[in-house]
Amino acid sequence: MKHTLAPKSRQRVFTWGRLQGKQSIMKKLILVLAAAFAVSAVLAGLSDGEALERAREILSKMTLEEKCRLLYGSGTMTLSCPPGAGEKREWIMSDNSSTVRPEMNRWDWGYTDPKSVNTKLPSLSALAQTWDVELAWRHGETLGLEMRDRGVDQLLGPGVNIMRTPLNGRNWEYLGEDPLLAARMCVPIIKGVQSCDVAATVKHFCLNNQEMARDTVDTHVDSRTFNEIYLPAFRAAVVEAKALCVMTSYNKVDGIWASENKYNQRGILRDRWGFQGMILTDWGGQHSCDFAINNGGGVEMHWGQGIVHLGNPKKSLHPLADAVRAGKVPVANVDEAALRTLFVMAKTGYLTGGKRRTGERNTPRHQRLAREEGADSIVLLKNVKGLLPLDPATLRKVLIIGKNADEKQCHKGCSGEGNVPYEITLRAALAARLPKAEVVLMPFCAKMEIATTDTSNAAIAGGHVEQKTKVDFCSVEELKSAAESADAVIVFTGTELGYQENMESESRDRENFDLPAELQEAMHTILGWKLPGTVVVSRSGTPVGYTWTDKADTLVQSSYLGMEEGNAIVDVLFGQVNPSGRLAQSWPRTYGDTAVAQKGTYNKTNVVYNERFYVGYRWFDRNKVAPLFPFGYGLSYTTFAFGKCSVRETDGGWMLEVPVTNTGKCAGREVVQVYAAYPGAKVERCVKELKGFAKTKQLAPGETQIVKIAIGERDLAYWDDFASRFATDAGDYEFLVGASSVDIRERLAVKVARTKHYRD
Ligand code: BGC
Repeated sequence: MKHTLAPKSRQRVFTWGRLQGKQSIMKKLILVLAAAFAVSAVLAGLSDGEALERAREILSKMTLEEKCRLLYGSGTMTLSCPPGAGEKREWIMSDNSSTVRPEMNRWDWGYTDPKSVNTKLPSLSALAQTWDVELAWRHGETLGLEMRDRGVDQLLGPGVNIMRTPLNGRNWEYLGEDPLLAARMCVPIIKGVQSCDVAATVKHFCLNNQEMARDTVDTHVDSRTFNEIYLPAFRAAVVEAKALCVMTSYNKVDGIWASENKYNQRGILRDRWGFQGMILTDWGGQHSCDFAINNGGGVEMHWGQGIVHLGNPKKSLHPLADAVRAGKVPVANVDEAALRTLFVMAKTGYLTGGKRRTGERNTPRHQRLAREEGADSIVLLKNVKGLLPLDPATLRKVLIIGKNADEKQCHKGCSGEGNVPYEITLRAALAARLPKAEVVLMPFCAKMEIATTDTSNAAIAGGHVEQKTKVDFCSVEELKSAAESADAVIVFTGTELGYQENMESESRDRENFDLPAELQEAMHTILGWKLPGTVVVSRSGTPVGYTWTDKADTLVQSSYLGMEEGNAIVDVLFGQVNPSGRLAQSWPRTYGDTAVAQKGTYNKTNVVYNERFYVGYRWFDRNKVAPLFPFGYGLSYTTFAFGKCSVRETDGGWMLEVPVTNTGKCAGREVVQVYAAYPGAKVERCVKELKGFAKTKQLAPGETQIVKIAIGERDLAYWDDFASRFATDAGDYEFLVGASSVDIRERLAVKVARTKHYRD
């Protein structure tokens, strides 16, 4: 069978959501033609069987040294070219989940060509907030096309680690707190990337749910929580999306480095999920090549033993080959790991020299996607007095408070960074949208001096040690008088990317859930003026303390939106796009309300996930604590009503139908969410868990769409520790149909006749 996955995913994409409503016939025709072209290009690839055969053939002709050379980086982002490969150049990797980072120098993290630029799409934390699987596919396909245009073979993304704590410095690179949402969103991303004859890498496997001490910390989780919360997105990536590569994480799992963990690499990835692709370490995440290979590992990336030895002529060039000769590593283990690498190379067409899909980069289409995705991810949290959308015709003077509104972010974030052709900040976008108005940018009335400079390895390795020692600030009086004379005041708060206080980046967690005290105080002061035209736009890739929300009537939440960030925010502020983003994480009122703060452990050495599967809304439900804003929440400029829902049995599950009507005055999109509750549970279960969702097309006022959501019996399963299997017990279940995790509109009772166990 030929490459079935990518064409199938494409068929799904072209029947979904928007195409049914918004697109014109012409656009549909173009898309169908594009799909047909893309399918034929993908068919140039090989089936799994054929790829394996080709990989075996090449492997049989390789010497031990040649095989070993395939198992460590030949440079910062490259693998050696195997003999007989169709493409006569090294295999090239590149970060990340929202752009294709420029090519790196062989021995350091500098760019070989600093002028090389790529489109930067919104971060995954933003994409998750769209709840739009079709957009996720386009996100992935766009990255794939940009890779092909640059000659990159392997993308180091997407990242799918679950948000366990809001402090994690990398939440902006992941898909939120819920395993089903993360799983459903990562599958189309991966299929989209791989539809371009390149490999995607799902990372960081596994339990890398904090950045603090990420490369030394030891993590411990019970197997039920592991299987129900932290593995589903990885499983979906491997089993459903057929991701070709998995990157292990830096941390230890139960005392064993993730890159050397036999239970996870062999037991879960290979044996349970049938993963055939490449396992590679995170950069410098391998501690012993013998151990890693003998425990199911594969490719060691960067600064590891292979590289160190290459850089030191006195040492052996092939520590792995030496280990084989010394009898420490069976040659069969090297063969297996090399075969997996060759398999991935064959699947993409790199090995065989088959025709690979033609790429493109920085096209208007990609730029439009960055903007559309960004706008669709924005969550309207409060619009108490209906101030939004703003009417540009009424604005003669707009004051923006917060210098970050003109601070570019795309080049920041270490491995999440990009090099972009341009970046539109909020200030620039507002000024362009209001050519006749005066757009003034002022700093907060807060003297925020940043005293410490992060000198962690990642900051240095990324070349982004930033030193910010002084920040502009205004006197309260000066700011107040400017605000009073403006027709609208946009307060731009939240975080930025980087390595200092109030920033988000890898290898470091946020030290505080709350914004810096001076900034919070300034927010209270500004909102205390009660100026009617005040809009708060808060940007962060993770929940941060909103101690001032009660004072804000109008509040918009944005994640990092890439190079069209400013335009995307302005599209929402002026109503060109009706917000349809929904939170992909519960927004706690205080850090102390979170599960990790109360129950779990969080430290630099031994982290026990004591909160178990009560993560995010599961925790808030269980403790009957209301978060500030719940998971799945988000407002619109219009209103929606759900009609009578129905549920019918299908083969192995149910089909729910939910009529959604736009009852307001402007067009918009709603996200229907279905949670399961377990009234007759024989084992401990959460109050409710997300089991399905769908986003409507753009509905005109008065228009109704019947949204269909399929849920399988397996979706209701829990991990049965005694059987070491997933199980769905016979008994009563309920589907809770809602517009957020707390806004449940209807409960539908269903029954499971027989208990079932699932091998995985
Ligand atoms: C990050 C990975 C990234 C790698 C290569 C590491 O520091 O954790 O996510 O893919 O660097 O840049």
